[in-house]
Amino acid sequence: MAVVKVPIARIITGHKAVREALRNTELYSSDLQGDADVRDYRQIPLEVDPPKHHLYRAALAPFFVKPHIEKYVEIFTEHTKSLLDSFMKDPGADVVTSLALPLVMHNLGALYGREQDVSEWIGWGPDVWTATGSKRDGAVLHSYLDRIYDEALAQPNGDIWSQLASLEIEEEQITPLEFRGIAGIMLAGGRDTIVKMFAGIIWYFGKNPHELISLREDPQYIDRAVQEFLRFLTPNTAMARTTTPESSQTSLPDDRYVSMSFLSGNFDESIYPNPTTVDLRRERNPHLSFGFGPHTCIGNHLAEFEVRIFLQSLISSNYMWSVESSSEITFHPDPLQSVPHEFKNLLIRLAS
Ligand code: HEM
Repeated sequence: MAVVKVPIARIITGHKAVREALRNTELYSSDLQGDADVRDYRQIPLEVDPPKHHLYRAALAPFFVKPHIEKYVEIFTEHTKSLLDSFMKDPGADVVTSLALPLVMHNLGALYGREQDVSEWIGWGPDVWTATGSKRDGAVLHSYLDRIYDEALAQPNGDIWSQLASLEIEEEQITPLEFRGIAGIMLAGGRDTIVKMFAGIIWYFGKNPHELISLREDPQYIDRAVQEFLRFLTPNTAMARTTTPESSQTSLPDDRYVSMSFLSGNFDESIYPNPTTVDLRRERNPHLSFGFGPHTCIGNHLAEFEVRIFLQSLISSNYMWSVESSSEITFHPDPLQSVPHEFKNLLIRLAS
């Protein structure tokens, strides 16, 4: 899920201020229409305020609670090992599109029981809005969402899309647009974000091979490493809020959009000594990578399991590699110029 594109008038920065603002849903509402260039419906539960937000969230929670995700550890591990091994046999390809994206999509296909859709999802590329090329365009995603919605209503078979299509909120079955909003974020939320995590981990160990060796020697630090990679890579750097809920009848001021900078919180020196250093043994790590407050990422357990399994697979392998200088990586502006922003193309070379 990329940052919901709206014209930002003000940015809230710093760990404490961002957490306080995220808790204050009256002052900073999520009732907004993001990405208006590519969609005209709300992403749900993301762009809905409490109390209705809670109803949607409670309906989706069973798919994402920890005990449910735990059932998929074995299959995620199989996917990770087999995709990693086949990538490393011929590591000339781009890590993002040939390893990270297929892995994320295979895992999601297993979790949603939609293995038949995995090749189609991979074909969209890491960002669903640019699936037809570099121009932002929701056409491919929307035709898929409409198709699965029609199928789910015509032939309900109990799978995840059938369950969602028949969902009742306040005793009314959800509308086609609500279905788009829910299923759309369930496909987009854990896509470019986890892709960035996998690519970022490969990049970091390629640049710092001794850190991988050290984790192999002391694998008990794996959970701290998961959290530190989440902090350092901050896949979702910021999300928007509006000071005037857009469903209200009042006129909407142009300067209503405020950005919550998760990135600034994750590099706040008052919380993190040496924030631009990756410290895989960092003890205290209250990062904001999953946000904070009522909209805290619902996919957080899924993301953490996937990243942990990825790290475990790297630890239990013997692979060592370096990063090719021809890779295309962008970095954040000063003072975070050593922190990767986007992996457009990541190329590695196996160490002999
Ligand atoms: C490393 C991976 C991920 C990161 C960094 C991430 C980040 C975030 C953040 C920062 C938010 C809060 C947005 C806000 O406050 O406005 C959020 C919300 C959300 N995320 Fe994730 N996410 C990740 C993985 C996932 C996955 C795997 C899924 C599902 C497949 C998912 C689905 C959602 C949904 C549905 C919401 C909206 C929750 C709500 O409004 O109550 N995310 N995510």
